[in-house]
Amino acid sequence: MSGDSLHTMGQQHGRRSWAEPWKIKMVEPLKITTREQRLAALDEAGWNTFLIKSDDTYIDLLTDSGTSAMSDRQWAGMMLGDESYAGSRNFYHLEAAIQKFYGYKHIVPTHQGRGAEHLISQVMIKAGDHIPGNMYFTTTREHQEMAGGTFHDVIIDEAHDPQAILPFKGNMDLGKIKAIIDQFGADKIPYISLAGTVNMAGGQPVSMANVRAIRELCEPLGIKVMLDATRMVENALFIQEREEGYADKSIAQILLEFCSYTDGAWMSAKKDNLVNIGGWLAVNDWDTFEELRNLVVVFEGLHTYGGLAGRDMEAIAIGIEEAVQDDHVRSRVGQVRYLGELLTEWDIPIVQPIGGHAIFLDAKRFYPHLSQDVYPGQTLAAYLYLDSGIRSMERGIVSAGRDPKTGDHKRPKLELTRLTIPRRVYTQAHMDVVAESVKACFDAREEARGLEMVYEPKYLRFFQARFKPL
Ligand code: F0G
Repeated sequence: MSGDSLHTMGQQHGRRSWAEPWKIKMVEPLKITTREQRLAALDEAGWNTFLIKSDDTYIDLLTDSGTSAMSDRQWAGMMLGDESYAGSRNFYHLEAAIQKFYGYKHIVPTHQGRGAEHLISQVMIKAGDHIPGNMYFTTTREHQEMAGGTFHDVIIDEAHDPQAILPFKGNMDLGKIKAIIDQFGADKIPYISLAGTVNMAGGQPVSMANVRAIRELCEPLGIKVMLDATRMVENALFIQEREEGYADKSIAQILLEFCSYTDGAWMSAKKDNLVNIGGWLAVNDWDTFEELRNLVVVFEGLHTYGGLAGRDMEAIAIGIEEAVQDDHVRSRVGQVRYLGELLTEWDIPIVQPIGGHAIFLDAKRFYPHLSQDVYPGQTLAAYLYLDSGIRSMERGIVSAGRDPKTGDHKRPKLELTRLTIPRRVYTQAHMDVVAESVKACFDAREEARGLEMVYEPKYLRFFQARFKPL
């Protein structure tokens, strides 16, 4: 059959599927457990999926962080690690890749995203400052608060409504930013904390028009715009698909334009950049860079390795280039959508529209009979594990933590359970198995009674808190 007739055949069937732009060269066996084994593992883990051993997990959707499969090129790059203490050649490769694809001038490597968040917060925030952001992220806000700042959520209202369908539900509300400027004064706002695809909102994107407007508002007032670039590549795909004027631009072009409206970025390379460990900071301003590369030596390592081995930096440099390929991003987000569309077809409540890195089950509607005080999101994560060994993560009242002033629970409007899809790791058949297990939990939803927290750590409690079933 000629290439032409193959092409026509596809059109006759009216279907043009995406497929992963790679084939599998090495496999890692998965372990299947019994329900009794899973119940024992849950008890041992205090019903917290963070405390379950990976060996007791079947399909691991805890996070897309550091869980990517690296390519053969990245593994080859690992062999080219230059492990010199200072001036490793891999640092210069990383620097060049960030400059080329993100467009920033000065680069500081860090061991992972929160290392970068720590440094940027310490350098840019003074006690009494205020930081507006498009919904909080756990570690980001923790570092901003530890530096003496107060975080203000300025995401559009609809982002807190899991059923509101909008193309750019991660956008900031400019009115909310202006109100904070009016209340505290521009000199108390060191920067706007802008995340590309908002994790806690369900992986929802920010439009190019929104970042442009934020820039126009802030630049004359001397307020910087700092980007959490962790999943910005995925954000670029949504712009390509949904925003007028971008359909013919490549992911790489969109990424570069978006970053050009910001003054710098911090990055968890463990996500978009397709590596198992690593992070970086990038800024355009020389003075800020000087302070950052001073401080990195105290907390991470010399400014040309920042807590990473040379081989790690090489893998990130290669990962950056692979991550901005259009076919990669399309299949990555396509897989997330495949799972989300199955669940939607079966009337299972999830955050809509489907985001870039994960499906967020809406635990409030999943378990309408459970109050937020018995942790519905955490309960759902536990029952899903019990059903099939699939590991997910709570993103609700436990993750939100306590108000540092009043000591009460912060009560987020969104009470979610996140099924996070690692990049290039699982197949479509795994997604079917996941969807079917979620359906089984949904069918048995009335049996769930919720959880009681029996141990609560002081910081980022969701990681190590322990629970008992009610
Ligand atoms: N920013 C965002 C938006 C993140 O999602 C994360 C991590 C970080 C910063 C911190 O980066 O983990 O490298 O220190 N998110 C992970 C997750 C943990 O599962 O969503 P890190």
